[in-house]
Amino acid sequence: MKKPSKDLMFPLFFPFFLTLLLFPAPILSWKKDEFRNCNQTPFCKRSRSRNPGSCNLVSTDVLISEDGDLVAKLIPKSKRLDFYDENDNNIENGTNIVKPLVLTVSVYQNGIFRLKIDEDKNLGLPKKRFEVPDVVVDEFERTKLYLSRKREEKIGDDLVESSIFYLADGYEGVIRHDPFEVFVREKGSKERVLSLNSNGLFDFEQLKGGKEEGEDWEERFRSHVDSRPYGPQSISFDVTFYGADFVYGIPEHATSLALKPTRGPGIEHSEPYRLFNLDVFEYLHESPFGLYGSIPFMISHGKGRGTSGFFWLNAAEMQIDVLGSGWDAGADKIMMVDQKRIDTLWMAEAGVVDTFFFVGPKPKDVVRQYTSVTGTPAMPQLFATAYHQCRWNYRDEEDVYHVDSKFDEHDIPYDVLWLDIEHTDGKKYFTWDKVLFPNPEEMQNKLASKGRRMVTIVDPHIKRDDSYHIHKEASQNGYYVKDASGKDFDGWCWPGSSSYIDMLSPEIRSWWGDKFSYDSYQGSTPSLYIWNDMNEPSVFNGPEVTMPRDALHYGGVEHRELHNAYGYYFHMATSEGLVKRGNGKDRPFVLSRAFFPGSQRYGAIWTGDNSANWDQLRVSIPMVLTLGLSGISFSGADVGGFFGNPEPELLVRWYQVGAYYPFFRGHAHHDTKRREPWLLGERNTELMSDAIHTRYTLLPYFYTLFREANTSGVPVVRPLWMEFPSDENTFGIDEAFMVGNGLLVQGIYTERATDVSVYLPGEQLWYDLRSGMHYNGGQTHKFEASEENIPSFQRAGTIIPRKDRYRRSSMQMEHDPYTLVIALNSSQAAEGEVYIDDGKSFEFKKGAYIHRRFTFANGKLTSSDIAHSDGKTKYISHCTLERVILLGLSSAYKTALIEPISKKAIIELGPLRLHGGRGPFVPTIRKPGVHMADDWSIQIS
Ligand code: NOJ
Repeated sequence: MKKPSKDLMFPLFFPFFLTLLLFPAPILSWKKDEFRNCNQTPFCKRSRSRNPGSCNLVSTDVLISEDGDLVAKLIPKSKRLDFYDENDNNIENGTNIVKPLVLTVSVYQNGIFRLKIDEDKNLGLPKKRFEVPDVVVDEFERTKLYLSRKREEKIGDDLVESSIFYLADGYEGVIRHDPFEVFVREKGSKERVLSLNSNGLFDFEQLKGGKEEGEDWEERFRSHVDSRPYGPQSISFDVTFYGADFVYGIPEHATSLALKPTRGPGIEHSEPYRLFNLDVFEYLHESPFGLYGSIPFMISHGKGRGTSGFFWLNAAEMQIDVLGSGWDAGADKIMMVDQKRIDTLWMAEAGVVDTFFFVGPKPKDVVRQYTSVTGTPAMPQLFATAYHQCRWNYRDEEDVYHVDSKFDEHDIPYDVLWLDIEHTDGKKYFTWDKVLFPNPEEMQNKLASKGRRMVTIVDPHIKRDDSYHIHKEASQNGYYVKDASGKDFDGWCWPGSSSYIDMLSPEIRSWWGDKFSYDSYQGSTPSLYIWNDMNEPSVFNGPEVTMPRDALHYGGVEHRELHNAYGYYFHMATSEGLVKRGNGKDRPFVLSRAFFPGSQRYGAIWTGDNSANWDQLRVSIPMVLTLGLSGISFSGADVGGFFGNPEPELLVRWYQVGAYYPFFRGHAHHDTKRREPWLLGERNTELMSDAIHTRYTLLPYFYTLFREANTSGVPVVRPLWMEFPSDENTFGIDEAFMVGNGLLVQGIYTERATDVSVYLPGEQLWYDLRSGMHYNGGQTHKFEASEENIPSFQRAGTIIPRKDRYRRSSMQMEHDPYTLVIALNSSQAAEGEVYIDDGKSFEFKKGAYIHRRFTFANGKLTSSDIAHSDGKTKYISHCTLERVILLGLSSAYKTALIEPISKKAIIELGPLRLHGGRGPFVPTIRKPGVHMADDWSIQIS
């Protein structure tokens, strides 16, 4: 959340100031006590205070259902004889008795299984608990295996048998009956991979029909009261990752990539990692505090066993403890397994148990498995992968033209100019301030003529103003979220009194989507795209700056059950609206601040309101890496830091790192000084311009990686251990990262750094991107810090496609020729890929693309087709190859023979980097004259 300046506040009138008096300053500064900690959150406090082994549930016999699922009931062991008949049904009468829970296990291809536990819907519940729809993709459901067999086996000294089921080659799942536990193990060795309830912390608070005497279900926080009409309904359990050295994931937190333990010996007063989407003002850079989005997906990695993953599909507030070794000291230990492990405790306020277990065993397998459930990232338009220029706010059309022309004057490319909330008429989205932006279409068209786009902001709070068409329709149709009393929920946000569209309803989402049609959104053109902000949702006068948990959504769903998915639905509705406005032809672009599992299908995410300081620059890397591990490949942080004025050196370093974020956008708060790349002195302009040019040069590589993410879920930027899973030195690294499998980038995160240490993993060499010098892998190297760039290296054995011409925007590069940079390994071999399509439409889904594999071996570079579907639809490109750069050639080659055109070329020395003519000269084949779309080979001799 941000701090409105006085002049901007004024039009929000007196009521806004009144609100500030009533709700002391949640928007004026970050104050820890504005937000709940675990102790102030009753379900978290209760769950944390439970002792290992406190779960007394046992599983009844496991049956196989008609759908091929395994089904059982969980009943309290002690009550078995007294309260349950021979069919395990509770024979007591009454509303608040403990009822059996229903457990279902479904098995899917690729070593995934889904464990659900819910109340028994046949037993007359006060209401159905919320199961999040619209996240698990249909394709995944189609990979379900129909189990027809299971085995029984006694484990250790167990008195009763456990049910064993097939999972995947080499793995089996186990439902242990008494004590109740579910785990995955390797078939042969019986070594465990993942388990649930091995520490006996499972607890499931059942909905109650009514209060018992003396019970008080209301919860209070500061001045807010939560009515909690169904009483406590939380769920908690422990999950264990075996053979794990570290756990990662569960964004969004501004913290290290490897998650630090939150409980255990020597850790005092530590909070669990919170997953609760919140608009946090000036967030801290080292904190488990929940930020704007939530993905309850954790990955473990260890040298011994490899990688595994666990995902809980639940949209209620969640708190997760990573338990440090010895956390259970003093308790009666029940864990009987002697394997290296990391225990974790998962606690949610509501919902059901709907969990997925992923066996890996490699990092990329786990991400693939997770995105097979929640969907792979959407393929963005090419422009969206280039540089974006934003600021709160570009004042008026004149300002827009000025900024646009300055980029040209300084020869700096950019693709998108953004307009924040002030472009609207009184914060009524889909409108324009008629004085400041009298000719929006003309403005967009002028930028479009240079291949540039615009983005406007559209938030989910709707101004309660009867003359505003969106408000009129939404209130008349009953499209707003309701408060606990059933009236339209009314909260404060930028426009003052606002209501919030109920995005859970498909009908309402479709209505919302229609608002993006060119007819409806007056002043919009096909080159306009959208930014969704404040969609946690942010409510300035709400508890913890968000919506009350007892607000009501479509179908009677309480906001507490849905909270973390609200922004996801808003993003989805907007993105689908953009697809509709273009009759399904063009790929949408929507940036969202809030997110949830599956958000990757709808667009990009940024890390919200960071600050202009070095710590925040550093933490942006683990934040972006964590998002990538969690399916959200298209993300970035505000370059320069949103709050505050970065020193020029910090801004330059931020551009140098940001040029490698998948989403690369400069943005700033309106109280900050202007900081467009040409404003901080000539030298700094040159340095920032260089960083932006680096990104444009590498666009073909990035675009190829976006396609890889789109097909496999494997993120564009990756932790080092994803590429080097058995190199333990990489497991804790989060200041350096890989871009694809070929580039390693190390940021510089300190002022006036004189040197920088970089660990280069693996056994192969690494080539410095600028000097072409090579360095050994498996070592930490100390480099002199240069102001010109941050250390970046190409891995030996890879081929990276580039486009080296200076242009104004990515669109103007469309027909430019390619350069291939070949970094040879010790066998004088390398390989790489390039993916090309029209950069905007969905035709690629029908096969209209070019996807080439390049291999270099035995002195020959070959380009071959990576086979794709039907070949009926084609993408035609006349792009040629203009240069092949060879790094690490072991002997002096002189000529190249290019086939099938039988052309001869000489190998000469050419500059490694074209920009400014700087850099060393390296063996280069110029103008081979072949087309990127064709089969060809180049033999050197
Ligand atoms: C909050 C967002 O995080 C920020 O980027 C934006 O500039 C302001 N809202 C104003 O819309």
